[in-house]
Amino acid sequence: MGTGCSAHSSVHVQSPQDNARKGIRKKLSIEDQTNQRRKLIFQNEMLASSFVEFSSPRNGRHIKWRRGEIIGEGAYAKVYQCINLNNGELMAAKSFYLGDDPKKIEKEFENMKKEVSLLRNLDHPNIVHYYQTDLSSDMYTIDVLLEYVPGGSLKTILQKYRTLEVEIIRNYAKQLLEGLSYLHANFIVHRDLKSANVLITSQGVVKLTDFGSSIKFNESDVALSKSLRGSPYWMAPEVVLRYGHSFAADIWSFGCVLIEMITGHPPWSNFSKETRAVLNLISKENSLPTIPNTEVELKDIITACICRNPKLRPTTDEILAMPFFQFSLEGK
Ligand SMILES: Nc1ncnc2c1ncn2[C@@H]1O[C@H](COP(=O)(O)OP(=O)(O)O)[C@@H](O)[C@H]1O
Ligand SMILES: [Mg+2]
Repeated sequence: MGTGCSAHSSVHVQSPQDNARKGIRKKLSIEDQTNQRRKLIFQNEMLASSFVEFSSPRNGRHIKWRRGEIIGEGAYAKVYQCINLNNGELMAAKSFYLGDDPKKIEKEFENMKKEVSLLRNLDHPNIVHYYQTDLSSDMYTIDVLLEYVPGGSLKTILQKYRTLEVEIIRNYAKQLLEGLSYLHANFIVHRDLKSANVLITSQGVVKLTDFGSSIKFNESDVALSKSLRGSPYWMAPEVVLRYGHSFAADIWSFGCVLIEMITGHPPWSNFSKETRAVLNLISKENSLPTIPNTEVELKDIITACICRNPKLRPTTDEILAMPFFQFSLEGK
């Protein structure tokens, strides 16, 4: 009495057997759901074949791993730190959330496919290293396992340190060009070069990442792509105007990253925060980003990279041969 616990209510107290039964029911329903998702994914020929194609690990040995904290988020995916359960190595997992809508599942598979089909064939010290792709056991995410880069992105470095010294810019820019030169030699245009896609190790090594917008041209036929790819502030005029773009579009974006490293912000950002307005600014005839005040040899590179005519922009190797890179890193 007085406890408010009536005989009636006690009827509803769950017995251990009830709990066990419920537990089994719950477990079964999760299993059922997973089975349904398995069917959804593996009965779709395109999804099944792309998963089978991309799930083989790069060095033939499947890595077992466990997810840790979130370390980054872009427009398409969330990136987590994770640990290799075979040897304790830290790695990064770029997770594409599939959701329930079959159309979204196809779209996410497409995104993953684009990224992995390029990354798994790349091998360069200035390109993030790819390990393997896994479908989670509940079939809700696809995880692309990558080398973990502890310093995070150049964007976060710029948020922390605001602007960078010319010596740091020389070091980062040289490595970025070496990574880009390797990509271009392999007929790949990155198409989304910006500080958020440039990672920095704790030793100051640059690793280019995020190949979700990249395109690989046919070696015998470097056609021009007309699709609108990239992030507005870093986009070359020929990309915005859909004139057809190629390797030189990355060179324009590289010039924009130099501006970011000098000022802490991408070009045009003090004019507008609105995508359409930025695209209008870039498409306007003769409009050019403001060249920041810095060493003349660095200004020369920026001027050459943000030339509106893509045919007149230098290649990565031509930029590396410019006077700015002729000083030794310790020198001067
Ligand atoms: N390998 C990695 N190591 C450390 N941080 C990473 C790694 N890959 C991505 N990140 C972080 O996650 C962010 C988003 O990753 P990204 O591949 O660019 O995804 P999205 O395609 O969604 O833009 C990056 O800007 C960076 O801060
Ligand atoms: Mg990104």
